[in-house]
Amino acid sequence: MTDFSLISAVIAVISVLMLTVLYLNRLFGPKQKTEHDSILDKIPGMAPTSSEEGNSLDITAAGSIHQFLVTLHSKYGHVAVFWHKRIRVVSLASPEAWKDVIKLFDKPDTIFEFGKCLVGLTSIQYAHGDEGKQRRHIYDKSFTYEAVGNYYRSFQKAADDATDKIGLLPPNDHINLTEHMSMFALKALNRAIFGDFFKDDNNAITLLRHYEKFDFQ
Ligand SMILES: *[C@@H]1O[C@H](CO)[C@@H](O)[C@H](O)[C@H]1NC(C)=O
Repeated sequence: MTDFSLISAVIAVISVLMLTVLYLNRLFGPKQKTEHDSILDKIPGMAPTSSEEGNSLDITAAGSIHQFLVTLHSKYGHVAVFWHKRIRVVSLASPEAWKDVIKLFDKPDTIFEFGKCLVGLTSIQYAHGDEGKQRRHIYDKSFTYEAVGNYYRSFQKAADDATDKIGLLPPNDHINLTEHMSMFALKALNRAIFGDFFKDDNNAITLLRHYEKFDFQ
């Protein structure tokens, strides 16, 4: 091997090593701070108690997310930070602060992570930008103040079905409220949204059984 090709080979190996180090550093190394991060750094709030779980343990210790947020905001003010797993969450607790973000549309997909395999990635929860806005505009028409009036009848019917069924149980019989209320919710919502298919109780029961088997983890 000539000196020249030896030097070229050494340079090539060093270049590949440097690229690998740079790549691994980008993957696993400390993240470059963006301007966005520096602004977020200025917001007061809690540090994560665990790098994986964020403030999950603090939320559990507080008793509920509500109690946790009450304490967070009384300590750090109306705009405060906490961590959901590895995600920094900015919590707002004043109408004025909400006004500043009223135009924000895209929501992080992680909020709906639990429902991903139930509703699928093409659901409105994961739609962003112009497409998301357009779909939202179309769907929202079915849920306006006037439109929800159309659902009263289905809701009333489902409520009557539930009370009738409970009324038919022998006295002192165990009333499985979970079962009755799940059926009520399924029938009311599904009949309102999907129509007559769910008039047949068996279809609602089949869906309930599938739902019970679904592993939300
Ligand atoms: C009550 O109903 C739920 C939902 O259908 C079911 O998972 C549970 O086992 C029932 N409980 C009893 C005590 O039957």
